[in-house]
Amino acid sequence: MSDARPDDRPPPPVGTPVASGPTLVTLRVNGEVRRGLADPRMLLSDFLRHELELTGTNVGCEHGVCGACTILVDGEPARSCLMFAVQAGGAELETIEGVAGAEGLHLVQEAFREEHGLQCGFCTPGMVLMAKRLLELDPDPSEEAIREYLAGQICRCTGYVGIVASVRRAAALTASSGESTVEGR
Ligand code: FES
Ligand code: FES
Repeated sequence: MSDARPDDRPPPPVGTPVASGPTLVTLRVNGEVRRGLADPRMLLSDFLRHELELTGTNVGCEHGVCGACTILVDGEPARSCLMFAVQAGGAELETIEGVAGAEGLHLVQEAFREEHGLQCGFCTPGMVLMAKRLLELDPDPSEEAIREYLAGQICRCTGYVGIVASVRRAAALTASSGESTVEGR
């Protein structure tokens, strides 16, 4: 057993990250610049919920399995429980709070309402954001494509039938509204 005192330890190599106190994180969320303090290992999901008070992002497993915490980071789906808040500094985030417009529900949300795509609603924020992104990539996805894209989103209530129907309905509503969600069009 070494009798070396802590003070006798050699200094860490140059460039070694040193744990420090809270960091000011600045990002854009749902089109607004937001700032908050985050400890170095604070999860982005906790930052959204506790620091920015955006509690629409749900947290289930907290280790990347259930998809409940899915948001869009720079337009792409991301599990906010797998990112540190400090990693999102400078990014553009979309959470469920930003999906509806001033005129009412987004067409994807309307479709989930019409087709009973939710029961308890715990998985719904992540499902809606994933469906929204899928329709940007593919405005008329097949049932198979929907199931594959949403395969990482766990719902323990619906059996998924209503969710798939909701995404199909959202595609139809989008087409009939004349809105193109496809990137670059
Ligand atoms: S809470 Fe993030 S994937 Fe389950
Ligand atoms: S609606 Fe309850 S988990 Fe999906």
